[in-house]
Amino acid sequence: MNVTKRFLQALKGETLTPPPLWLMRQAGRYLPEYRETRAKSKNFLHFCYSPDLAVEVTLQPLRRYALDAAILFSDILVIPDALGQKVEFVSGHGPQLEPIKNMAQLESTLDQSHVLRHLEPVFTTVSRLAKEIPETTALIGFAGAPWTVATYMVEGKGSKNYEEIRSIAYSDPKFFQRLIDILVESTSKYLIEQVNRGAECLQLFDSWAGVLSEQQFYKWSIEPMVRIVENVKAVHPTVPIIGFPRGAGPLYEAYIRETKIDGVGLDHTVPLEWARDVLQPLATLQGTLDNLLLVAGGEQMETEIKRILEILGQGPFIFNLGHGIVPQTPPEHVERLCALVRGEV
Ligand code: CP3
Repeated sequence: MNVTKRFLQALKGETLTPPPLWLMRQAGRYLPEYRETRAKSKNFLHFCYSPDLAVEVTLQPLRRYALDAAILFSDILVIPDALGQKVEFVSGHGPQLEPIKNMAQLESTLDQSHVLRHLEPVFTTVSRLAKEIPETTALIGFAGAPWTVATYMVEGKGSKNYEEIRSIAYSDPKFFQRLIDILVESTSKYLIEQVNRGAECLQLFDSWAGVLSEQQFYKWSIEPMVRIVENVKAVHPTVPIIGFPRGAGPLYEAYIRETKIDGVGLDHTVPLEWARDVLQPLATLQGTLDNLLLVAGGEQMETEIKRILEILGQGPFIFNLGHGIVPQTPPEHVERLCALVRGEV
C-alpha cells in the first residue's frame, strides 16, 4: 500500500498548504521525557548506540507534535568514532576528541575497515524506526558533511572561529584532502546503509560551512557534497537528499546547482524574498525560523512564522528552524508553532 507522506511530496517539488513540518534537534534536552530517557545512559555515544533508547527518543517529539518527519536519533560524531578516533561527550563542555592535525596522526589513527560494523546499532535503530513510526511520517537519516565533521576531528572540540582548521586546510592541503576523502567515503557508505535499512530521505549537516571563504567553500563544502550525492544516488537514485550548508549566504545558489540536491536547509540569516526568487526554482526550501525566536515565543514569533509562510509557502517548502532547537526552548512554544504553521489558530 502506498501511503502519502507529505514531507516526501514536498521534496518532489510539490507545493503543499500548509507545508510539511519538522524541527532540527526535535528530540533533545528541551523535552523532559528526553532527559528522563537520557539519564539511563551515562555515555552519550552509548546512548546513540542503544537501539531501544534511540528509538524511544526519536518517537518522543512525534507523540507530542505529530510532525511530518522523524529524524534518526544519533550524532554526526559517530563517524570519527567509527573510524577509530577517540570521541567523548563531556557534559557541559560538548564533544571532546583526540585531535588529528597531520598526515602521520591520520595514518596511525583512522581505519575505514570497521565503519559499517561499528555503526550496526545505528542501522538497527533505523530499521526499527521504519517499522514503528506512523505511516504518514517520513524517516530522515543523516550525517555530518565532511567539512563540519573535520572541524571537530582536527580542532578536537567545538570551535569559535575555526582558525586552526582553516589554517591547516591552507598550509597542509595534502593532509586535509586525505581527511576529507576518508570522510566522503565513509559517510557515503554510512548513508547508503541507512537507506538500505529504511531511511526515506537523507540530510547532510554542514553546520560550519559559513566560516569558509568562497574558494574554500567550493573545495571543502561543495566538492565533497557533490561526491557524496553521486555515491548515494548511484545506489539509491530516487532517495531525496537535503543539504544544510549553514551560513552559506549567496553561495547557497552555487551549492544547490553544483550538488543537485533535492532540498536545502536555510539558516535564519537568508533573505526570504531572495530565497523565493533565486533558490526555490532550484530546490525545495526548508527552514528558516530563528531557533531563538522559538525560545522567546509570543507576538514576535507569530509574526515571523506568518512572514515565512507567506513568502516561502507559495512554492515547494518544508517548515523548519534555521538551526536546531536549543535546550532552553519551552515545549509549549513548539506546540504553538505547530498550530500556527498548520493554520489551526
Ligand atoms: O532530533 C535530532 O535532531 C536528534 C539527532 C541529532 C543530534 N545531533 C543529537 C544530539 C542530530 C541531527 C545532531 C547533529 C549534530 N551534532 C550537529 C549538526 C547540527 C547542528 O546542530 O549544527 C552537530 C554540529 C553535532 C555535534 C554535537 N553533538 C555537539 C556540538 C553536541 C554538544 C552540544 C549540545 O547541543 O549538547 C552534541 C551532543 C548532542 N547531539 C545532543 C543531542 C540531543 C545533546 C547531548 C545530551 O543529550 O547529553
